Amino acid sequence: MPQRPYVIDQLISAKSIAARIEDLAREIAAEFAGTDKLVVVGLLRGSFVFIADLVRELDLPVEVDFLEASSYGDAMVSSREVRILKDLRAAIEGRDVLLVEDIVDTGHTLSQVTKYLQGRKPARLRTIALLDKPSRREVDFKADWIGFSIPDEFVVGYGIDFAQRNRNLPFIGKVRFTEA
Ligand code: IMP
Ligand code: MG
Repeated sequence: MPQRPYVIDQLISAKSIAARIEDLAREIAAEFAGTDKLVVVGLLRGSFVFIADLVRELDLPVEVDFLEASSYGDAMVSSREVRILKDLRAAIEGRDVLLVEDIVDTGHTLSQVTKYLQGRKPARLRTIALLDKPSRREVDFKADWIGFSIPDEFVVGYGIDFAQRNRNLPFIGKVRFTEA
């Protein structure tokens, strides 16, 4: 697919992300204190950098698992129908689960994935998203923890892609097209 030329303007620095994750990890460890059962579930692929940094700040015994749900494809539009493309390996019935997502945008992905996981009867299911775009919400969904609330901009970096590119940027940037 031919791509219009664009540049990436930094929105959130690597340093700010690291500092925020330290705070979030402290809050999460307090919430799950005493549990020996926490399964941290990353939603592929956008959360892979975030979950890697988050679990290394978490002072708790954790297991890590991944789930893949269908997403936008390579377009900057949202699809409402969310399908499970890769399921969990772990059995989560009776266990504490932390679902880790990159961005809450329209809310469809997390509202449907959390319903799906609730069907497996976890003891406790909590959600965390690095970024939140509240102005884009189409269904009512609120994550238990949010790293940063951002305006309606298309962002990349720190695991998040635009047409599969830019996941390896260490910061969060916004895409700005340079031609009309
Ligand atoms: P939702 O179902 O609309 O809440 O969409 C959530 C998913 O859309 C996220 O997990 C991202 O994969 C993707 N997404 C939303 N906004 C952006 C963005 O600005 N850049 C890249 N992906 C995005
Ligand atoms: Mg995603």
